[in-house]
Amino acid sequence: MVFGAILAGGSGTRMHISNMPKQFLPLDEKPIIIHTLEKLLMCTKIDVIYIGVNPAWLGYMSDLLEKYELDFEDKIKLVPGGKNRNDTIFNIINDIEKTYGESEDNIIVTHDAVRPFVTLRILDENIENAMTYGACDTVVPAVDTIVVSQDAQQIDSIPDRSMMYQGQTPQTFKINILKELYSQLKPSEKNILTDACKICVMKGAPVKLVKGNSSNIKITTISDYKIAQFLVGGNVVELEENDR
Ligand code: CTP
Repeated sequence: MVFGAILAGGSGTRMHISNMPKQFLPLDEKPIIIHTLEKLLMCTKIDVIYIGVNPAWLGYMSDLLEKYELDFEDKIKLVPGGKNRNDTIFNIINDIEKTYGESEDNIIVTHDAVRPFVTLRILDENIENAMTYGACDTVVPAVDTIVVSQDAQQIDSIPDRSMMYQGQTPQTFKINILKELYSQLKPSEKNILTDACKICVMKGAPVKLVKGNSSNIKITTISDYKIAQFLVGGNVVELEENDR
């Protein structure tokens, strides 16, 4: 089976707003997370969509599904998010295996709730490549020069830009491979991981690249939110930012 996994366990601290996690902010007529969910629903290869939700917002998310008439119990499931992004992924995997059992063919398409502009082509190519290679990551070639600095004061190196990419999501895996590799990591290694593909990279497992799209942005800051509102063609909502 193919499982979508929308990662919505975060609280969006870099937006510097206090009233709600960024995935629930409005984008045109609907919350960001509903746009993202609708994209995954368009992909007919995905059998079931999980949403790993910030635990304090599970009831709110459930109300949103009802409001937007997306409360299909056999198709969309909510689970509590974890303390970090990978924990949210593994909360989802645990529920998948409890509910549907384990299978070598099970695929998980992990996607940030705050990337509402993912395309059907990207989702389809992720699923095909994970089936063939076991793991894949969505990337775009780096457009800016990447500068490495360990002390944030001066440059250590400038890698060759032609080999640099920026990671997006989805990141898609055969569940049994991801679980096996993760179990091989030490607790200290698990704690520093922010990226699921890095689990594979650290253990030397191949990760195929899937071509992303420059408009598949992650809404991280207020400026990203403004760009997203232009991309969706709606009216721009001004937010009250906290003092920094
Ligand atoms: N995420 C998650 N579980 C967590 C932390 C993050 O599912 N414990 C999700 C976020 O909800 C988001 C995605 O991972 O959809 C990408 O992470 P990021 O943009 O860093 O989101 P936040 O952690 O919410 O933001 P910030 O780092 O600014 O607090």
